[in-house]
Amino acid sequence: MDRRDFIKKTAMTVAGTAVTAPVMAMLTNNENMDLLEKETEKTALNSSDKKIKVLMINGSPRRDGNTFIALKEVESQLTKHGIETEILQIGNGAVNMCINCGNCRNTDDGCVFDEDICNTIATKMKTADAMIVGSPVYYGQPNGGILAVMQRLFYSSGQVVKDKPAAAIAICRRGGATAALQTLNMMFEMMNMPVVTSQYWNIAYGSSKGEVKLDTEGMQTMRTLGNNMAWLLEKIHAGGKDAPERERGIYMNFIR
Ligand SMILES: Cc1cc2nc3c(=O)[nH]c(=O)nc-3n(C[C@H](O)[C@H](O)[C@H](O)COP(=O)(O)O)c2cc1C
Repeated sequence: MDRRDFIKKTAMTVAGTAVTAPVMAMLTNNENMDLLEKETEKTALNSSDKKIKVLMINGSPRRDGNTFIALKEVESQLTKHGIETEILQIGNGAVNMCINCGNCRNTDDGCVFDEDICNTIATKMKTADAMIVGSPVYYGQPNGGILAVMQRLFYSSGQVVKDKPAAAIAICRRGGATAALQTLNMMFEMMNMPVVTSQYWNIAYGSSKGEVKLDTEGMQTMRTLGNNMAWLLEKIHAGGKDAPERERGIYMNFIR
């Protein structure tokens, strides 16, 4: 099958039974082929070929603790909408902090530290459409590991996350969740990532493993977040305008 036959076949597959006689006539007109080729490729990409994907990151060292459970609750709704998901665990190994070495600015290698999940997230975000970050609250803030990973990810790989919707969730025993949530959201806000919200701040309460399930309002907040994320992603992927062209960034230090 030559290239043009392939395009015709793809156009018919994408359009299904809607391929009418005028459309077929247009298909045989060579002048229209380039235009048709572009349109077909665009439609094929927006059709079921590529599933929308959300990458979820669990910042807790407890693999199946409360943060994980809350993320699973968000995921349950994404799945209902046919959205693909993957949960990455930060785990309980050592995590590096950004040492401001500049390697990521001078090479295409990503972060100089390759032992933890930072570069894995960057690679996966190239094809994922959105990101959800879950963190337990430690001393009124996101836990240290997730902060270190997110700072390195965004410093080294801003291009792969920009324009993609994002949400954070924070899980705590008693207090500090709103401050932790704000801290995580501030990173998304610097990356042109639309921040997705819920019916309440994206927080839930629990101390020992599994206790978060007793916070029925918190669990509902997570489900609403999943539905809101799905709604926004479906809107974005239904077509329409791409993200706006951005001005070249002005980088100004407040020392002069
Ligand atoms: C080092 C440390 C600090 C914590 N600090 C807070 C805190 O400031 N506020 C709070 O409500 N809970 C705090 N907690 C409790 C955890 O946020 C809570 O147990 C949470 O459910 C843990 O989530 P996980 O099961 O996903 O790890 C802290 C726990 C640890 C280990």
